[in-house]
Amino acid sequence: MRPGLIAAALFGAAVAAAAPAHQGMTPAEPEAGHDWPPGDPQAGRRLAGQCRTCHGLDGIARIPIAPNIGGEHAAYIAAQLDAFRSGAREHEMMSIVARGLTDQQIADLAAWYSGFRAEAELHADPADAPQPCASCHGADGIAVDEMAPNLAGETAVYIDTQLRAFRSGKRHSEVMGPIAEAMSDAEMRAAAEWYAATRLKVSRPD
Ligand code: HEC
Ligand code: HEC
Repeated sequence: MRPGLIAAALFGAAVAAAAPAHQGMTPAEPEAGHDWPPGDPQAGRRLAGQCRTCHGLDGIARIPIAPNIGGEHAAYIAAQLDAFRSGAREHEMMSIVARGLTDQQIADLAAWYSGFRAEAELHADPADAPQPCASCHGADGIAVDEMAPNLAGETAVYIDTQLRAFRSGKRHSEVMGPIAEAMSDAEMRAAAEWYAATRLKVSRPD
């Protein structure tokens, strides 16, 4: 077998192992099961003044180590803020930002940033997309699964950092942990470069 085929086989096995866990996981996942109060997007817009230097008011990242959050699902945004607040996910900047947020503020911020429509421009043949990733994150990086984030237009350094964190267990995910554990550094870089090469556009439907 060529190395590429071995990698594809390993990838396939990891995804097959992850898929049933994922299907069974969503309702039981503590963050996903968190009961958030209804979010007010206008209150979220005001709070987003604290986020704009890094994520912009529109959720398009302004610094290479920060991700785009405009147009992510509210449930994903809220779950990640909750994880930073509780310490389940750690980052020197976000842990401080999230520490003081109330449930209402998290819901409001999630309502604001999820209110954008995310679209991606792909300048390559979708058939060349990393197939095991595309089933959840889309070939163009627009996620097809509610709890999976968009990867379109994230920087390669952000994607690579997250994959390594999933692999080492520093960032915990029942879905991404086993997938990242089966990946080599080169595969991580290739997946990161694919999604970083797509362009993300966000707009407000209203
Ligand atoms: C000083 C810069 C900075 C500020 C201010 C900031 N962030 Fe972040 N944010 C980051 C970085 C860097 C990451 C990536 C952390 C990591 O590598 O795990 C991140 C990650 C996130 C994520 C996870 C997204 C994903 O795709 O997993 C969310 C959600 C988020 N920030 C929301 C916010 C909100 C809402 C605010 C304002 C209340 C905010 N951030 C303020 C830098 C910042
Ligand atoms: C079965 C669905 C599924 C598959 C397949 C999958 N992912 Fe994920 N991915 C997820 C979920 C769910 C999350 C959110 C994890 C969490 O809650 O922290 C995620 C998160 C990520 C993140 C973090 C993004 C961010 O904004 O912080 C990266 C990077 C990522 N995946 C890359 C990949 C790559 C590369 C592949 C292919 C090798 C892949 N994923 C395959 C479901 C999937």
